[in-house]
Amino acid sequence: MAAGPGGLGGGGGRTDFSPLGIHGDEDEENSSPVLLSVLVQHGQLGLCFYDNKDSSLNYMGDTPDSHELHLLARVIQEVCPHVIITSAKQEHCMTRFLQKLGILNRCRCKFGSKLLRNTNCHADLIELVSFIPSVIWDMQVDFESSLAENRFTIKPNVDSAIDENMETAVMTQLQNTILERSSSLYKVLDLTAELDCLIAMSSASQEYGYTSPKLASHRKITVTQGRHPLLEVCSPVFVANSFHSSESQGRVKIITGPNSSGKSIYLKQVGLIVFMALIGSDVPAKEAEIGLVDGIFTRMQSRESVSVGLSTFMIDLNQMAQALNSSTGNSLVLVDEFGKGTNTLKEGICQSSYAANIASLAGLPTSLVQRGMEVSELYRIGRPIKRVDKASSDEQANRCRSVVEKFLSLDLEDNDLDLQRFMKEELLPSAGEVLNHR
Ligand SMILES: Nc1ncnc2c1ncn2[C@@H]1O[C@H](COP(=O)(O)OP(=O)(O)O)[C@@H](O)[C@H]1O
Ligand SMILES: [Mg+2]
Repeated sequence: MAAGPGGLGGGGGRTDFSPLGIHGDEDEENSSPVLLSVLVQHGQLGLCFYDNKDSSLNYMGDTPDSHELHLLARVIQEVCPHVIITSAKQEHCMTRFLQKLGILNRCRCKFGSKLLRNTNCHADLIELVSFIPSVIWDMQVDFESSLAENRFTIKPNVDSAIDENMETAVMTQLQNTILERSSSLYKVLDLTAELDCLIAMSSASQEYGYTSPKLASHRKITVTQGRHPLLEVCSPVFVANSFHSSESQGRVKIITGPNSSGKSIYLKQVGLIVFMALIGSDVPAKEAEIGLVDGIFTRMQSRESVSVGLSTFMIDLNQMAQALNSSTGNSLVLVDEFGKGTNTLKEGICQSSYAANIASLAGLPTSLVQRGMEVSELYRIGRPIKRVDKASSDEQANRCRSVVEKFLSLDLEDNDLDLQRFMKEELLPSAGEVLNHR
């Protein structure tokens, strides 16, 4: 690159034209320099110039020029460039042309001088100026690569506005390309997630000694020595517990016990084992047979949240309502300390009424459910609970008959007969039962 001297060729009429290296930075900014880029090769002249005044860039494609570069001289005369930029590797005619201008090897940029020293291109026409970047839209010369490759290399780091637009364009393109394939990508994600779950279930089964549950079409659930899948991993000792609920018996269970005795863990363990069995996993138990379960409903921990705007008790009620409205006789409903979030009086009423409802759903006889509610109410108000046995008259007659039959079966003439023992162990208990239940 060469900077032209003042009065270049004498015909430009631009008296302010001077080598850039001579001007200070302030001058450069004020003088709106015209920058001319030239390349001469095989008798062809190509150039372009940048006019800072109107920020225009003008090109002249390859045009034949004489050995003395008359056309170039003419252009320089007309354009009056402040700076001429040209390649470090020049044809001899260009070297001579610029030598005639007397402006060779001007260099005010520290990288430029380094470049000159390092590349030994003393004969070449190079002047590096600090504002090269502004000439070519703020592109930056990569001096290290330039030194290594003996040519100018421009860093791809362009104007930040261009950067932003480019980035947006590239991102939009990327987004569109991804969206075009979104359905297959989602499919791949789903399959990968499924595979991940299957692998996790299989390795947990091997690592923690799970068993394969039997799935059956009856309504029974039997879990022998079941464990809580998480607690057994965290706790040094875990006590396994069984669970049994048959077609007609044990379908409603009430668990009582002191604090921290493991009630909640047991409830969760039952729910988790049934759930794991239903999703096709092995379960943490010695044996398990899981019948038809059409849903698992829980009322356990209520997560309060400001965004939900409900009290703990209200969240509890919603969970219970969901269980009652959606569960059937084949559902597993797990309720842990329902009504804890309200006063004890309401808690008791809630618990007994929901327990009664669920018991009816589970198919318990209405008389039994009603008696349950009575007992619960008596307990709540602190009144004594009296035993009730309303045996039918047929049953009573049968009981009497059995006492009479036992008595008649005695052989009173038998010398070995121990009447004392008979009265005490056989007759009296039966007769007592009849009397007590009358
Ligand atoms: N089967 C068990 N084996 C060993 N530890 C248990 C078992 N069940 C519960 N625990 C321990 O007892 C703690 C209290 O259990 P939790 O079910 O919350 O009690 P509750 O609900 O009766 O107050 C648990 O955090 C756990 O560490
Ligand atoms: Mg608890």
